[in-house]
Amino acid sequence: MNPVNTLEMLKKAYSGKYAVGAFNVNNMEIIQGIVSAAEELKSPVILQASSGARKYAGATYMRKLVEAACEESSIPIALHLDHGDTFELCKNCIDSGFTSVMIDGSSLNYNANIELTKKVVDYAHKYDVSVEGELGSLAGVEDKLNVSEEKSFYTNPEEVEDFVNKTGVDSLAVAIGTSHGAYKFKPGQNPKLRFDILEEIERRLPDFPIVLHGASSVIQKYISEINSFGGDIKEAIGIPEDMLKEAAKKAVCKINVDSDLRLAMTAAIRKNLAENPSNFDPRKYLTPAREAIKEVVKHKITNVMGSVNKA
Ligand code: G3H
Ligand code: 13P
Ligand code: ZN
Repeated sequence: MNPVNTLEMLKKAYSGKYAVGAFNVNNMEIIQGIVSAAEELKSPVILQASSGARKYAGATYMRKLVEAACEESSIPIALHLDHGDTFELCKNCIDSGFTSVMIDGSSLNYNANIELTKKVVDYAHKYDVSVEGELGSLAGVEDKLNVSEEKSFYTNPEEVEDFVNKTGVDSLAVAIGTSHGAYKFKPGQNPKLRFDILEEIERRLPDFPIVLHGASSVIQKYISEINSFGGDIKEAIGIPEDMLKEAAKKAVCKINVDSDLRLAMTAAIRKNLAENPSNFDPRKYLTPAREAIKEVVKHKITNVMGSVNKA
């Protein structure tokens, strides 16, 4: 199958009360692990490449690797640009075969974000490419915020309605309590998602797909494994999976996961190298690494996304 855009898959996710997993890809083993998990569970999947991933693998390699995965599989797969920050980057991805792009204007002021996002939407829609925008800042969540700090921290549902109407975006990433990376919360902090904001967005914009970035749960068994085989990852805590599962039943239709994949892969490689100190054949440690990616993606599809048998 050719890569598809995300319109149909997110629409079905909304009405079916589940989410589609959007997993970050950087090399062949990661792509193979993700797609093999999704294929086995008959789940749609979004493979997303950041500009860093395109620089690492090479833009052509990245695209061709995903095309190879699509050619060998029968599930719907979207090739998505994660965190595009300029019109030119989005255009380049659209022109080269990406089926979906994110334009992340969240660091700009509100009007500049609208202007940039609309420019990308106008171009992308001519080529049947779907566009994700972002509103709100996904920084680490602090414990004690006063009321006005809270207000500026999370996405404002009133702005969401205006932003979507003015830009024509197909989906929107919002800030309701998630944040990027492995160090989202400190031990003792109580991670929480602002379901009240999510529900208000849904009330104002029924049937509109919402995206959650920074949604890794920072699975503790991988942290322990990394640390027991020579790593040093301290006090990393993520978003509890039951909260994400709850969000997937509401307006959240796309959930982004990168850090949990990185942790699973690193744990597998560290373990394999520690247990086989004389090995120097990369295939021998990249095989369990690919298996670890498959295992964590199967876990997410089953326990967080709820997208088994939705392909
Ligand atoms: O949200 C960002 C993703 O985890 C991608 O990270 O820019 O290091 O590839 P990256
Ligand atoms: P995590 O760092 O929580 O995996 O988030 C990934 C992400 O949002 C990619 O865009
Ligand atoms: Zn992100």
